[in-house]
Amino acid sequence: MKDDRENLPAHVAVIMDGNGRWARLKDCPRMEGHRRGAENVRSVVEGCRKRGIRHLTLYAFSTENWGRPRAEVEFLMELLGGFLSNEREEMREKGIRFRAIGRISRLPPAVREEVNVTEKVTATGEDLNLFLALNYGARSEIADACRKICEEVLSARMRPEDIDEQAIQERLYTAGVPDPDLVIRTGGEMRLSNFLLWQLSYAEIYFTEILWPEFGDEELHTALQEYARRERRFGRVKN
Ligand code: FPP
Repeated sequence: MKDDRENLPAHVAVIMDGNGRWARLKDCPRMEGHRRGAENVRSVVEGCRKRGIRHLTLYAFSTENWGRPRAEVEFLMELLGGFLSNEREEMREKGIRFRAIGRISRLPPAVREEVNVTEKVTATGEDLNLFLALNYGARSEIADACRKICEEVLSARMRPEDIDEQAIQERLYTAGVPDPDLVIRTGGEMRLSNFLLWQLSYAEIYFTEILWPEFGDEELHTALQEYARRERRFGRVKN
């Protein structure tokens, strides 16, 4: 199976959904679904890296996910911390630069520490930028950007007439990163769930019924083929 290398997205974003349903189908605990989901993160990161995709953003924990049962939240936090400490050396070797986006200061200290160390260890990576959205919500991201702008205006570092799309974009967690070209959501739901609402304005959306733990290289290939076939007009007419 050959990918269409000419029409490869520069930035892919993924809403990894369906761990719980995968576990139910396999008759095992939900946590096992998350564990398999975390293993799958490894293979999809590798799938993107080997194809030469430059940026990959994964929705790992939303601001709404705190509402899950406490034991599940704790398990997910441990899984995230463990994932970062196990993977960071290999990420460094493979030229993967890791960064977290979201309200990181509200994460448990142990996870924050893993995030900081992994960001430092992988800081010189130049092949793939891997962004994990952690305690992330697009509405809070936009609210945070507005707060920064207000502070700058109040301290006279910025004038209200300077506020434009670029000013907002430069204050998002993803400042400096091109917007995703393709967003993939696994698990069959057809919604964006407060993920990158500003940045996804012109992204191609790909929904699949496949549950996240089963979204393998073949499914990634299919999503990329579908993307390559789409005609992107950015609100304009066809030339
Ligand atoms: C959705 O499954 C998944 C999440 C809560 C977030 C994604 C988390 C992982 C893939 C595991 C850890 C990630 C890393 C990066 C180590 P769900 O529980 O909503 O599934 P359901 O809708 O079938 O119940």
